[in-house]
Amino acid sequence: MRIVLPGGTGQVGALLRRACAARGDDVVVLSRRPERLEPGVRHAVWDGRTLGPWAAELEGADAVVNLAGRTVNCRYTDTNLRQMMDSRVDSTRVLGQAVAAAARPPATWLQMSTATIYADTRGPAHEEDGEIGGEEPHVPLYWEYSVRIARRWEQALEEADTPATRKVALRAAMVMTPDRGGVFDVLSTMARLGLGGPVAGGGQYVSWIHGDDVVRALDFLLEHPELSGPVNLAAPHPLTQAETMRVLRRAWGRPVGLPASRWMARAGALALRTDAELLLKSRRVVPGRLLGAGFAFAHPTWPDAAADLVARRRALPRP
Ligand SMILES: NC(=O)c1ccc[n+]([C@@H]2O[C@H](COP(=O)([O-])OP(=O)(O)OC[C@H]3O[C@@H](n4cnc5c(N)ncnc54)[C@H](OP(=O)(O)O)[C@@H]3O)[C@@H](O)[C@H]2O)c1
Repeated sequence: MRIVLPGGTGQVGALLRRACAARGDDVVVLSRRPERLEPGVRHAVWDGRTLGPWAAELEGADAVVNLAGRTVNCRYTDTNLRQMMDSRVDSTRVLGQAVAAAARPPATWLQMSTATIYADTRGPAHEEDGEIGGEEPHVPLYWEYSVRIARRWEQALEEADTPATRKVALRAAMVMTPDRGGVFDVLSTMARLGLGGPVAGGGQYVSWIHGDDVVRALDFLLEHPELSGPVNLAAPHPLTQAETMRVLRRAWGRPVGLPASRWMARAGALALRTDAELLLKSRRVVPGRLLGAGFAFAHPTWPDAAADLVARRRALPRP
Protein backbone atom coordinates (compact mmCIF):
# COMPACT_ATOMS: atom_id res chain seq x y z
CA MET A 1 0.00 0.00 0.00
CA ARG A 2 1.06 3.55 -0.63
CA ILE A 3 -0.40 5.79 2.09
CA VAL A 4 -0.19 9.57 2.50
CA LEU A 5 -0.56 10.97 6.03
CA PRO A 6 -1.10 14.75 6.20
CA GLY A 7 -0.51 15.78 9.84
CA GLY A 8 1.01 12.34 10.46
CA THR A 9 3.60 13.68 12.94
CA GLY A 10 1.22 13.68 15.94
CA GLN A 11 -0.20 11.10 18.35
CA VAL A 12 -2.50 9.26 15.92
CA GLY A 13 0.06 9.63 13.14
CA ALA A 14 2.65 7.85 15.27
CA LEU A 15 0.29 4.88 15.69
CA LEU A 16 -0.38 4.65 11.96
CA ARG A 17 3.26 5.22 10.91
CA ARG A 18 4.49 2.43 13.15
CA ALA A 19 1.81 0.01 11.92
CA CYS A 20 2.33 0.84 8.24
CA ALA A 21 6.12 0.81 8.43
CA ALA A 22 6.04 -2.55 10.26
CA ARG A 23 4.21 -4.23 7.40
CA GLY A 24 6.30 -2.56 4.69
CA ASP A 25 3.80 0.00 3.37
CA ASP A 26 5.14 3.02 1.52
CA VAL A 27 4.25 5.88 3.89
CA VAL A 28 4.59 9.61 3.16
CA VAL A 29 3.93 12.14 5.92
CA LEU A 30 2.94 15.71 5.02
CA SER A 31 4.12 18.10 7.70
CA ARG A 32 4.80 21.81 8.04
CA ARG A 33 8.40 21.19 9.03
CA PRO A 34 10.94 18.63 7.93
CA GLU A 35 11.43 16.04 10.62
CA ARG A 36 13.26 12.78 10.83
CA LEU A 37 10.70 10.00 11.29
CA GLU A 38 10.99 6.21 11.45
CA PRO A 39 13.19 4.47 8.86
CA GLY A 40 11.08 3.77 5.78
CA VAL A 41 8.71 6.70 6.36
CA ARG A 42 9.17 9.49 3.81
CA HIS A 43 8.47 13.09 4.54
CA ALA A 44 7.16 15.96 2.39
CA VAL A 45 6.62 19.55 3.44
CA TRP A 46 3.29 21.36 3.00
CA ASP A 47 1.74 24.38 4.66
CA GLY A 48 -1.71 22.83 5.17
CA ARG A 49 -3.29 25.68 3.19
CA THR A 50 -1.98 25.95 -0.35
CA LEU A 51 -1.25 23.61 -3.23
CA GLY A 52 2.42 22.83 -3.83
CA PRO A 53 4.82 20.09 -4.94
CA TRP A 54 3.49 17.92 -2.08
CA ALA A 55 0.34 17.27 -4.16
CA ALA A 56 2.37 14.93 -6.43
CA GLU A 57 2.59 12.49 -3.48
CA LEU A 58 -1.10 11.70 -3.96
CA GLU A 59 -0.60 10.37 -7.51
CA GLY A 60 -1.25 6.65 -7.49
CA ALA A 61 -1.56 6.43 -3.70
CA ASP A 62 -3.96 3.83 -2.31
CA ALA A 63 -5.15 6.03 0.53
CA VAL A 64 -4.81 9.41 2.19
CA VAL A 65 -5.55 9.71 5.91
CA ASN A 66 -5.77 13.37 6.91
CA LEU A 67 -4.87 13.98 10.55
CA ALA A 68 -3.88 17.64 10.33
CA GLY A 69 -5.25 20.13 12.82
CA ARG A 70 -4.08 22.35 15.65
CA THR A 71 -4.32 20.43 18.92
CA VAL A 72 -7.56 20.87 20.89
CA ASN A 73 -5.67 20.21 24.11
CA CYS A 74 -5.31 23.91 24.92
CA ARG A 75 -7.17 26.85 26.45
CA TYR A 76 -10.13 27.80 24.27
CA THR A 77 -9.07 31.41 23.71
CA ASP A 78 -10.34 33.27 20.64
CA THR A 79 -6.97 32.87 18.92
CA ASN A 80 -6.73 29.15 19.67
CA LEU A 81 -10.32 28.51 18.57
CA ARG A 82 -9.70 30.33 15.29
CA GLN A 83 -6.53 28.25 14.70
CA MET A 84 -8.41 25.05 15.58
CA MET A 85 -11.01 25.94 12.93
CA ASP A 86 -8.70 27.22 10.17
CA SER A 87 -6.12 24.43 10.43
CA ARG A 88 -8.84 21.80 9.97
CA VAL A 89 -10.99 23.45 7.32
CA ASP A 90 -8.07 24.82 5.25
CA SER A 91 -6.10 21.56 5.25
CA THR A 92 -9.17 19.51 4.30
CA ARG A 93 -10.10 21.97 1.56
CA VAL A 94 -6.64 22.06 -0.02
CA LEU A 95 -6.35 18.29 0.20
CA GLY A 96 -9.65 18.08 -1.68
CA GLN A 97 -8.24 20.34 -4.39
CA ALA A 98 -5.14 18.15 -4.68
CA VAL A 99 -7.17 14.93 -4.87
CA ALA A 100 -9.49 16.50 -7.47
CA ALA A 101 -6.52 17.56 -9.60
CA ALA A 102 -4.70 14.20 -9.42
CA ALA A 103 -4.52 12.15 -12.63
CA ARG A 104 -4.52 8.94 -10.55
CA PRO A 105 -6.23 9.99 -7.28
CA PRO A 106 -6.17 7.83 -4.14
CA ALA A 107 -8.96 5.24 -3.97
CA THR A 108 -9.83 6.20 -0.39
CA TRP A 109 -9.71 9.38 1.70
CA LEU A 110 -10.09 8.81 5.42
CA GLN A 111 -10.64 12.20 7.03
CA MET A 112 -10.36 12.81 10.76
CA SER A 113 -13.40 14.38 12.34
CA THR A 114 -14.47 14.15 15.97
CA ALA A 115 -17.08 12.67 18.29
CA THR A 116 -17.47 16.24 19.58
CA ILE A 117 -19.82 16.82 16.64
CA TYR A 118 -22.59 15.14 18.68
CA ALA A 119 -24.70 16.97 21.24
CA ASP A 120 -23.99 16.78 24.98
CA THR A 121 -26.26 13.84 25.70
CA ARG A 122 -26.40 10.77 27.92
CA GLY A 123 -28.30 8.78 25.30
CA PRO A 124 -26.42 6.82 22.62
CA ALA A 125 -25.26 8.66 19.46
CA HIS A 126 -25.37 6.57 16.26
CA GLU A 127 -24.15 7.85 12.89
CA GLU A 128 -27.64 7.93 11.31
CA ASP A 129 -29.66 9.64 14.00
CA GLY A 130 -27.24 10.86 16.68
CA GLU A 131 -28.17 14.39 17.70
CA ILE A 132 -25.66 16.86 16.27
CA GLY A 133 -24.59 19.45 18.86
CA GLY A 134 -24.75 23.22 18.86
CA GLU A 135 -28.35 23.74 19.98
CA GLU A 136 -28.24 22.40 23.55
CA PRO A 137 -29.67 25.06 25.89
CA HIS A 138 -27.92 23.68 29.00
CA VAL A 139 -24.25 23.92 27.96
CA PRO A 140 -21.82 26.87 27.90
CA LEU A 141 -22.20 28.92 24.74
CA TYR A 142 -18.60 28.44 23.63
CA TRP A 143 -19.08 24.64 23.36
CA GLU A 144 -21.13 25.45 20.28
CA TYR A 145 -17.93 26.61 18.58
CA SER A 146 -16.29 23.16 18.94
CA VAL A 147 -19.32 21.64 17.22
CA ARG A 148 -19.16 24.31 14.52
CA ILE A 149 -15.50 23.40 13.89
CA ALA A 150 -16.48 19.74 13.51
CA ARG A 151 -19.36 20.57 11.16
CA ARG A 152 -17.27 22.83 8.92
CA TRP A 153 -14.49 20.23 8.92
CA GLU A 154 -16.93 17.58 7.62
CA GLN A 155 -18.49 20.11 5.24
CA ALA A 156 -15.07 20.74 3.67
CA LEU A 157 -14.80 16.99 3.08
CA GLU A 158 -18.31 16.78 1.59
CA GLU A 159 -17.66 19.73 -0.72
CA ALA A 160 -14.52 18.19 -2.20
CA ASP A 161 -15.36 17.16 -5.74
CA THR A 162 -13.55 13.82 -5.89
CA PRO A 163 -15.79 11.33 -7.72
CA ALA A 164 -13.05 8.70 -8.06
CA THR A 165 -12.17 8.78 -4.36
CA ARG A 166 -14.26 7.28 -1.55
CA LYS A 167 -14.55 9.64 1.42
CA VAL A 168 -15.01 8.67 5.08
CA ALA A 169 -15.38 11.11 8.01
CA LEU A 170 -13.92 9.53 11.15
CA ARG A 171 -15.90 10.77 14.16
CA ALA A 172 -13.19 9.80 16.60
CA ALA A 173 -13.53 9.57 20.37
CA MET A 174 -10.52 10.11 22.69
CA VAL A 175 -7.70 7.90 21.46
CA MET A 176 -6.11 6.03 24.36
CA THR A 177 -2.43 5.14 23.98
CA PRO A 178 0.27 4.60 26.60
CA ASP A 179 2.46 7.36 25.13
CA ARG A 180 3.51 10.35 27.19
CA GLY A 181 1.47 13.50 26.63
CA GLY A 182 -1.69 11.81 25.34
CA VAL A 183 -5.10 11.89 27.01
CA PHE A 184 -4.50 8.55 28.77
CA ASP A 185 -1.35 10.02 30.30
CA VAL A 186 -3.28 13.03 31.63
CA LEU A 187 -6.12 10.91 33.08
CA SER A 188 -3.57 8.51 34.58
CA THR A 189 -1.70 11.34 36.28
CA MET A 190 -4.98 12.47 37.85
CA ALA A 191 -5.80 8.91 38.95
CA ARG A 192 -2.34 8.34 40.44
CA LEU A 193 -2.48 11.62 42.37
CA GLY A 194 -5.83 10.60 43.87
CA LEU A 195 -7.62 13.37 41.96
CA GLY A 196 -9.46 11.17 39.51
CA GLY A 197 -12.86 11.11 41.22
CA PRO A 198 -16.25 12.06 39.79
CA VAL A 199 -16.24 15.48 38.12
CA ALA A 200 -19.43 17.56 38.31
CA GLY A 201 -21.40 14.50 39.46
CA GLY A 202 -19.63 12.13 37.08
CA GLY A 203 -22.77 11.10 35.18
CA GLN A 204 -21.47 12.37 31.83
CA TYR A 205 -20.28 9.65 29.43
CA VAL A 206 -16.68 9.34 28.26
CA SER A 207 -16.23 7.93 24.77
CA TRP A 208 -12.82 6.50 24.01
CA ILE A 209 -11.05 4.06 21.68
CA HIS A 210 -7.85 2.07 22.22
CA GLY A 211 -5.04 3.06 19.85
CA ASP A 212 -4.72 -0.55 18.61
CA ASP A 213 -8.36 -0.42 17.54
CA VAL A 214 -7.82 2.88 15.70
CA VAL A 215 -5.19 1.17 13.54
CA ARG A 216 -7.36 -1.93 13.06
CA ALA A 217 -10.50 0.10 12.26
CA LEU A 218 -8.69 2.18 9.65
CA ASP A 219 -7.40 -1.03 8.02
CA PHE A 220 -10.94 -2.39 8.10
CA LEU A 221 -12.28 0.78 6.44
CA LEU A 222 -9.65 0.54 3.71
CA GLU A 223 -10.76 -3.04 3.04
CA HIS A 224 -14.49 -2.23 2.96
CA PRO A 225 -15.22 0.00 -0.06
CA GLU A 226 -18.94 -0.10 0.71
CA LEU A 227 -18.40 2.15 3.75
CA SER A 228 -18.36 5.89 3.12
CA GLY A 229 -19.63 9.00 4.92
CA PRO A 230 -19.52 9.42 8.72
CA VAL A 231 -18.17 6.50 10.76
CA ASN A 232 -17.97 6.60 14.56
CA LEU A 233 -14.55 5.58 15.83
CA ALA A 234 -15.27 4.68 19.45
CA ALA A 235 -15.29 1.57 21.66
CA PRO A 236 -18.77 0.07 21.94
CA HIS A 237 -19.14 0.26 25.74
CA PRO A 238 -18.43 3.78 27.04
CA LEU A 239 -18.94 4.33 30.78
CA THR A 240 -19.81 7.40 32.79
CA GLN A 241 -16.95 9.67 33.83
CA ALA A 242 -17.19 8.43 37.45
CA GLU A 243 -16.99 4.76 36.33
CA THR A 244 -14.27 5.45 33.76
CA MET A 245 -12.04 7.00 36.43
CA ARG A 246 -12.92 4.38 39.05
CA VAL A 247 -11.77 1.64 36.65
CA LEU A 248 -8.61 3.58 35.79
CA ARG A 249 -7.77 4.18 39.46
CA ARG A 250 -8.21 0.46 40.13
CA ALA A 251 -5.91 -0.37 37.21
CA TRP A 252 -3.26 1.89 38.81
CA GLY A 253 -3.92 0.44 42.31
CA ARG A 254 -5.32 3.75 43.64
CA PRO A 255 -8.75 3.09 45.15
CA VAL A 256 -9.40 6.67 46.27
CA GLY A 257 -10.27 9.56 43.99
CA LEU A 258 -11.35 12.97 45.24
CA PRO A 259 -14.55 14.26 43.66
CA ALA A 260 -14.39 17.62 41.88
CA SER A 261 -17.11 20.17 41.28
CA ARG A 262 -17.64 21.89 37.94
CA TRP A 263 -15.63 24.94 39.02
CA MET A 264 -12.80 22.75 40.34
CA ALA A 265 -12.70 21.02 36.96
CA ARG A 266 -12.46 24.41 35.31
CA ALA A 267 -9.64 25.47 37.66
CA GLY A 268 -7.84 22.13 37.11
CA ALA A 269 -8.16 22.46 33.34
CA LEU A 270 -6.75 25.98 33.61
CA ALA A 271 -3.75 24.63 35.49
CA LEU A 272 -3.25 21.90 32.87
CA ARG A 273 -3.57 24.54 30.11
CA THR A 274 -6.48 22.66 28.60
CA ASP A 275 -10.25 23.16 28.55
CA ALA A 276 -12.88 21.76 30.91
CA GLU A 277 -15.13 20.84 27.96
CA LEU A 278 -12.94 17.77 27.46
CA LEU A 279 -13.93 16.59 31.00
CA LEU A 280 -17.48 17.88 31.26
CA LYS A 281 -19.16 17.23 27.90
CA SER A 282 -21.08 13.94 27.77
CA ARG A 283 -20.25 11.81 24.74
CA ARG A 284 -21.86 8.40 24.36
CA VAL A 285 -20.85 7.45 20.86
CA VAL A 286 -21.88 4.07 19.40
CA PRO A 287 -19.77 2.55 16.60
CA GLY A 288 -22.88 1.32 14.79
CA ARG A 289 -21.51 1.28 11.26
CA LEU A 290 -18.27 -0.50 12.16
CA LEU A 291 -20.09 -3.15 14.21
CA GLY A 292 -22.75 -3.52 11.50
CA ALA A 293 -20.04 -4.19 8.92
CA GLY A 294 -18.52 -6.92 11.13
CA PHE A 295 -15.61 -5.08 12.79
CA ALA A 296 -14.45 -6.80 15.99
CA PHE A 297 -12.81 -4.55 18.60
CA ALA A 298 -9.64 -5.92 20.23
CA HIS A 299 -10.44 -3.80 23.33
CA PRO A 300 -14.21 -3.31 23.49
CA THR A 301 -14.44 -2.69 27.25
CA TRP A 302 -12.69 -0.14 29.43
CA PRO A 303 -11.51 -2.46 32.25
CA ASP A 304 -9.62 -4.57 29.72
CA ALA A 305 -8.31 -1.57 27.78
CA ALA A 306 -7.24 0.29 30.94
CA ALA A 307 -5.36 -2.76 32.28
CA ASP A 308 -3.57 -3.17 28.95
CA LEU A 309 -2.65 0.53 28.73
CA VAL A 310 -1.42 0.68 32.33
CA ALA A 311 0.81 -2.38 31.74
CA ARG A 312 2.25 -0.82 28.57
CA ARG A 313 2.71 2.55 30.27
CA ARG A 314 4.61 0.89 33.11
CA ALA A 315 6.86 -0.84 30.58
CA LEU A 316 7.90 2.46 28.90
CA PRO A 317 11.50 3.47 29.63
CA ARG A 318 11.85 6.48 31.91
CA PRO A 319 12.39 9.76 29.98
N1 LIG B 1 -6.01 12.10 19.67
C1 LIG B 1 -7.32 12.06 19.92
O1 LIG B 1 -7.75 11.59 20.99
C2 LIG B 1 -8.31 12.54 18.89
C3 LIG B 1 -9.68 12.30 19.07
C4 LIG B 1 -10.58 12.77 18.11
C5 LIG B 1 -10.12 13.46 17.00
N2 LIG B 1 -8.78 13.68 16.87
C6 LIG B 1 -8.31 14.43 15.70
O2 LIG B 1 -7.44 13.62 14.95
C7 LIG B 1 -6.38 14.39 14.39
C8 LIG B 1 -5.07 13.78 14.79
O3 LIG B 1 -5.00 13.73 16.20
P1 LIG B 1 -3.60 13.73 16.96
O4 LIG B 1 -3.88 13.45 18.38
O5 LIG B 1 -2.60 12.89 16.23
O6 LIG B 1 -3.23 15.27 16.82
P2 LIG B 1 -1.82 15.97 17.07
O7 LIG B 1 -0.91 15.06 17.84
O8 LIG B 1 -2.09 17.33 17.60
O9 LIG B 1 -1.23 16.08 15.57
C9 LIG B 1 -1.89 16.75 14.56
C10 LIG B 1 -0.89 17.25 13.52
O10 LIG B 1 -1.52 18.31 12.81
C11 LIG B 1 -0.52 19.17 12.34
N3 LIG B 1 -0.94 20.57 12.50
C12 LIG B 1 -1.03 21.29 13.65
N4 LIG B 1 -1.40 22.55 13.39
C13 LIG B 1 -1.56 22.62 12.04
C14 LIG B 1 -1.89 23.67 11.15
N5 LIG B 1 -2.14 24.91 11.60
N6 LIG B 1 -1.96 23.40 9.83
C15 LIG B 1 -1.68 22.15 9.37
N7 LIG B 1 -1.32 21.14 10.17
C16 LIG B 1 -1.26 21.37 11.49
C17 LIG B 1 0.75 18.91 13.12
O11 LIG B 1 1.73 18.44 12.20
P3 LIG B 1 3.03 19.31 11.76
O12 LIG B 1 3.38 20.20 12.92
O13 LIG B 1 4.05 18.26 11.51
O14 LIG B 1 2.64 20.05 10.54
C18 LIG B 1 0.37 17.82 14.11
O15 LIG B 1 1.35 16.83 14.26
C19 LIG B 1 -6.56 15.83 14.92
O16 LIG B 1 -7.16 16.61 13.93
C20 LIG B 1 -7.49 15.65 16.11
O17 LIG B 1 -8.33 16.76 16.32
C21 LIG B 1 -7.86 13.23 17.77
